[in-house]
Amino acid sequence: MSFPSQDPFSWFESEYQKAVQAKVPEPNAMQLATVDGEGTPSIRVVYFKGFVRGGFSFYTNYNSQKARELARSGRASVNFFWPQLAQQVRVTGIAEKLTREESEAYFRTRARLSQIGAWASEQSQEIDGPQWLERRVEDFEKRFQGQEVPCPLDWGGYHLLPLQIEFWFGQEGRLHNRYVFERFGIESAWRMYMKSP
Ligand SMILES: Cc1cc2nc3c(=O)[nH]c(=O)nc-3n(C[C@H](O)[C@H](O)[C@H](O)COP(=O)(O)O)c2cc1C
Repeated sequence: MSFPSQDPFSWFESEYQKAVQAKVPEPNAMQLATVDGEGTPSIRVVYFKGFVRGGFSFYTNYNSQKARELARSGRASVNFFWPQLAQQVRVTGIAEKLTREESEAYFRTRARLSQIGAWASEQSQEIDGPQWLERRVEDFEKRFQGQEVPCPLDWGGYHLLPLQIEFWFGQEGRLHNRYVFERFGIESAWRMYMKSP
């Protein structure tokens, strides 16, 4: 079967660039799904921050709900939806933490307030209202006044190593095109096929 691309990563890059050119708002926003120990799924948006060692990277708090669920299952799925292009890209695979060096390198590129925010927010924990966070931000601004904000130990990246990537192109009459890349392990060759819409 003829496939538009033999390499899902370069294909993703070129579709992503089309989404940027089409001015899709936040084309890098991806829905990230994880599951808890009972198999209950949970979905939230995180920002895709490029490919790191063959995986879709994103950054977050390592004590958050998503991090706890990733620690348990090691599995995740993300979905990009680009409505202006009638496209989605759906990725499922193995989520692993990035190295400390990789997380620190990315952290240094963040705006200072986002760096302070990473210290202030105990992500996914119950809090006592908005003042709690404001106070924490003030505290950490004082603590790091006049110096670079270091990367917190409980903050960093993941990369999602795909075992399946599906490129979905919306077509008239719901006769959509679905191109699937699938492999058994991250070292295995891709099998490529199409799915019925
Ligand atoms: C557009 C958008 C982008 C977001 N990007 C991130 C991100 O890159 N990292 C992150 O931890 N949370 C991000 N969030 C917040 C998450 O959706 C979520 O609220 C948070 O990570 C806590 O999730 P959890 O409690 O399930 O772990 C983003 C939210 C939106 C709406």
